[in-house]
Amino acid sequence: MASISINSAAELLRPPQDGMPFIRANRAAEFTTEAGELAISDGLIASFEGDGAATVQIDASGCAVIPGFVDCHTHLPFAGWRADEYNLKVTGASYEQIAQAGGGIKSSAISLDEASDDEVIAQAEALATEMLEHGTTTFETKSGYGMSVEGELRALGLAARLGESVVQQIASTALLAHALPSGYDVDGWMAEVALMAAQVADEKSASALDIYVESVAFDNEQLRKMGELAQQHGFDLRAHVEQFNANRSVPVALEVGARSVDHLACLHPDDLEPLAQSECAAVLLPGAEFLGEEELAPGRALADAGAITVIATDANPGTSPIVSMPLIIGLAVRRYGWTALEALLAATINPAWLLRCSETTGSLEIGKRADVVVLDGPVANIAYRFGHNPVAVVISSGEVVHVRSDWEDRVSGER
Ligand code: NIG
Ligand code: FE
Repeated sequence: MASISINSAAELLRPPQDGMPFIRANRAAEFTTEAGELAISDGLIASFEGDGAATVQIDASGCAVIPGFVDCHTHLPFAGWRADEYNLKVTGASYEQIAQAGGGIKSSAISLDEASDDEVIAQAEALATEMLEHGTTTFETKSGYGMSVEGELRALGLAARLGESVVQQIASTALLAHALPSGYDVDGWMAEVALMAAQVADEKSASALDIYVESVAFDNEQLRKMGELAQQHGFDLRAHVEQFNANRSVPVALEVGARSVDHLACLHPDDLEPLAQSECAAVLLPGAEFLGEEELAPGRALADAGAITVIATDANPGTSPIVSMPLIIGLAVRRYGWTALEALLAATINPAWLLRCSETTGSLEIGKRADVVVLDGPVANIAYRFGHNPVAVVISSGEVVHVRSDWEDRVSGER
């Protein structure tokens, strides 16, 4: 295994102190970005001094070194895209109208059903490579386009197969209640969900359960039921809530101990403070908000109130066909009024906590996995040069896994 020395960095993004499981957003200003060096050996961050004897030497002068991004909300693996719907959407159709006309989740379910395993994996692997080139070293997968018992279990199997073939470490979520499959009423499908949850727990093919609460999907009663199933089987509970309507799902999610509530574009003002005080991550998805012209989640207020704020791509063929965390950071900074540091903690340590891997990744600390990204400029440029990919070098678990072509001269030695 290569040893690596990253030299002369203009900025090293370091947390306020070591060993923090997550960092509430009102402490973002305590991150430091001093100049420095970083040495890696045996897959781990070894020191904050350069190592002249390391086999790989990286010249990071003028540039920032940050932890790899943790994209904790994606819908990989899925099959195909839905560009036709985007056309309908930008010319005036709503997500609910598209879903009711047979588009939306159901159309991706048909595509998944019609694709072979190899086709699904090939598409997801290509996206994982694109994510890596944008600095994502850990990501979450979800089922949810299976829309039948066999389909959901197949999707979880495909996610596990994807995890074996991609560079990144993955965490698998079973989104067992995404849209109501045909042939079922809600209670009938929730009975199947209960059986599947038991099987998924036995097979350990997911670590979290998820549910979509919306007018076109499930309601708070099923959210509560999903929370009970999560507790019963030792899963974390995640929930897609308050995306298009204020359904007041957040109090229910908090009551049943959710690990995260995701979307929150229509978060009810009375639910903001209790969420911010809780140990439940507020996952904001600015790509879906932007492309769907959704309401804007109260990102600034959540940060000021000290929530465990998180941002993610929500990569999926419907609401957010985006895989770039730098783009998501750019959107979050501009649209929520966040500083670059606020966006970065929401893209690194906090999502790592949500996925239960912040002991080993998500921040630059000695002894953590060397999931490290070298940018082509300072931290502030990630958001400022909106649309530019600032990722020059990606190191995953101590291996150099990506060097942008114009950076070859800055990386020397045996990789
Ligand atoms: O996170 N809103 C529910 N689920 C996805 C969209 C799924 C789809 O449209 O295919 C989301 O936005
Ligand atoms: Fe989603």
